[in-house]
Amino acid sequence: MKLWDKGGTPDEHMDRFTVGNDRELDQVLVGYDVMASRAHAEMLGKIGILDPGETRAILRELDRIAEEIRAESFPIEAPFEDMHSKIEYELTRRLGEAGKKIHTARSRNDQVLVALQLFLKDELVGFRDRIRTLFDLLMALAEEHRDILLPGYTHLQVAMPSSFGLWFSAYAETFIDDVHLLRAAYRVADQNPLGSAAGYGSSFPVDRAFTTARMGFETQKFNVVAAQMGRGKVERTTAMGLASVAGTLSRMAMDICLFMSQNFGFLSFPDSLTTGSSIMPHKKNPDLFELVRAKCNILQGLPNQLALLTTNLPSGYHRDLQLTKALLLPAIEDLKACLEITTTSLRSVRVNRNILDDPRYDYLFSVDALNALVQEGMPFREAYKEMASLIESGNFRPEKKVKHTHQGSLGNLCLQEIRLKMEAAWPPAIPG
Ligand code: ARG
Repeated sequence: MKLWDKGGTPDEHMDRFTVGNDRELDQVLVGYDVMASRAHAEMLGKIGILDPGETRAILRELDRIAEEIRAESFPIEAPFEDMHSKIEYELTRRLGEAGKKIHTARSRNDQVLVALQLFLKDELVGFRDRIRTLFDLLMALAEEHRDILLPGYTHLQVAMPSSFGLWFSAYAETFIDDVHLLRAAYRVADQNPLGSAAGYGSSFPVDRAFTTARMGFETQKFNVVAAQMGRGKVERTTAMGLASVAGTLSRMAMDICLFMSQNFGFLSFPDSLTTGSSIMPHKKNPDLFELVRAKCNILQGLPNQLALLTTNLPSGYHRDLQLTKALLLPAIEDLKACLEITTTSLRSVRVNRNILDDPRYDYLFSVDALNALVQEGMPFREAYKEMASLIESGNFRPEKKVKHTHQGSLGNLCLQEIRLKMEAAWPPAIPG
């Protein structure tokens, strides 16, 4: 059951410890291993290591295995060490001699790496699309609530008038920055490492350009040592993209928690999206957003975790690298869940349209009142002082109107410009 079996018996504890939960994680990647094995087998056929009959048989069996994986009937059970062992075992069991040839000119080191990269490319596209859905929703909410005023804060002190239009589209535009990082991570993952074998190439005349095209990679990692050094780096760059998305999401979740508090009362959600208290009957708690905040805060540590895991590893493969999967794969699922629940709940967000009836927000207008004096010809510092003494004496009664007409401000949210920027960041039609 071990690909490296030479007749001895591995220690049971050593075996359990080194495999850990790796089989479970490989279950997520096994379809991509099959995809890469397919390209590899075709390539071995092309360079004459497999004869046409063997190539056909292997491809047919790999297609069957892919089918079984889709039907969730291709378990990687003990005592298989990993997905690679299971696939080779099945090919050999079903095909005999031909199956034993599939591992020519490759190693599990380039096999796991290519599977990971194919997987990450798909996941990164998935994140782009999920973010796009949330972006569209935020932009629609911005449009709908364009002129509804919302207090702006600095230092958590009432500052200047803002709007729900600005708030929603601020997060939308910020997600574009995250998409840039996701796209950069995609580019790093879009370089075929297959053919680097254990990390030093092989003596077979492998056609790496062929497998690159076959698997839809944009290019290859030409240097085999660099290809292997991609392990860890590919995971880290993806993690940076995920952490960037998480940073935006956790901040939005924090705003929402704050805005849902009775002391603010700016936003609310239907009862079905809030949780209650076992003791306080009035409670409508934002648990959902608190957990988005918490998960996304943890996710922001992921690049650091991966950096610590891989820090000071010399070039070449090390088993330490197996643990990148244990960090990255659950993080991907967490971020997906956070994006999905945030998007679903924002569809039913309710906005308080009468915030400014409360006189505690009168001061929001001090700057606009001051600016009006300046427009009438008073020097700024003089107008500032006049306004300060008006406020101090308690006689400030502002006209609650704002005229911020410059680009990106209250009067002109630049929604169209923001849409175009997102369009250009990573257009859906182009995978990379
Ligand atoms: N499970 C390993 C990983 O994820 C497989 C790669 C190669 N294993 C090895 N012992 N060389 O890194």
